[in-house]
Amino acid sequence: MISQVLAASDVLVRFGATTAVAGVDLEVAASESVAIVGPSGSGKSSLMHCLAGLIVPTSGTVHLAGVDLGPCGPEQRAALRRSSVGFVFQFADLVPELSLLDNVALACELIGSSRREAVQDAGSALDRLGVGSLAARRPGQVSGGERQRAAVARALVHRPKVVFADEPTGALDTENGTRVMDQLLEAASEAGAAVVVVTHDPAVARRCARRLEMRDGRIEGTVAVASAP
Ligand SMILES: Nc1ncnc2c1ncn2[C@@H]1O[C@H](COP(=O)(O)OP(=O)(O)OP(=O)(O)O)[C@@H](O)[C@H]1O
Ligand SMILES: [Mg+2]
Repeated sequence: MISQVLAASDVLVRFGATTAVAGVDLEVAASESVAIVGPSGSGKSSLMHCLAGLIVPTSGTVHLAGVDLGPCGPEQRAALRRSSVGFVFQFADLVPELSLLDNVALACELIGSSRREAVQDAGSALDRLGVGSLAARRPGQVSGGERQRAAVARALVHRPKVVFADEPTGALDTENGTRVMDQLLEAASEAGAAVVVVTHDPAVARRCARRLEMRDGRIEGTVAVASAP
């Protein structure tokens, strides 16, 4: 269990009468990349939210970065997310009033880095993603692809154990999407972070070492996505 950065056992999520996740077991090793694919409504986001400690499953257990989330309260889960988890969402989800640099620096400051350290690390992270020259611009002043690169920098700057990405390329064209995905995987691998990505895009899924298909709240198995997008 310790060598796994994520371990979920019999995770079940109900929203009223809807069973979103119907008993999922999943282990993810350090530095591994896993894609979760499957039809709309099959429970991908709900499962990811449980794995990341954003929601508490109705039943089942999740260990994240070696911590059993079961006994954790909301504040403990939030602290664990800030220190050990990075997120990339479909629409970058950066703070619109802050520059790209400040957006990325914020992730460091939230876990106690000094302002100077945070700015330095944020600058290097943006450089690594190829958007260092745009550091002073706000999210609304750059392209969608550039924004997603900044979001990837923010997700990795504090060297998390796992990055969760929900449709990280959903708002980008195929070429930009695969580039951002490659940069995400490369940066995560450099940082030693595992990646769990939810995607509809076979080209994105194909880039991950392991691909799982969800149907009706269950993981049906590993899928081959060798066909062209
Ligand atoms: N907060 C919620 N309240 C009620 N029902 C929900 C909630 N979140 C998700 N659901 C339901 O749970 C099921 C799984 O939803 P989920 O968002 O996990 O699917 P998904 O696979 O991520 O779909 P998509 O590909 O469209 O993003 C759906 O039937 C959805 O309507
Ligand atoms: Mg979803």
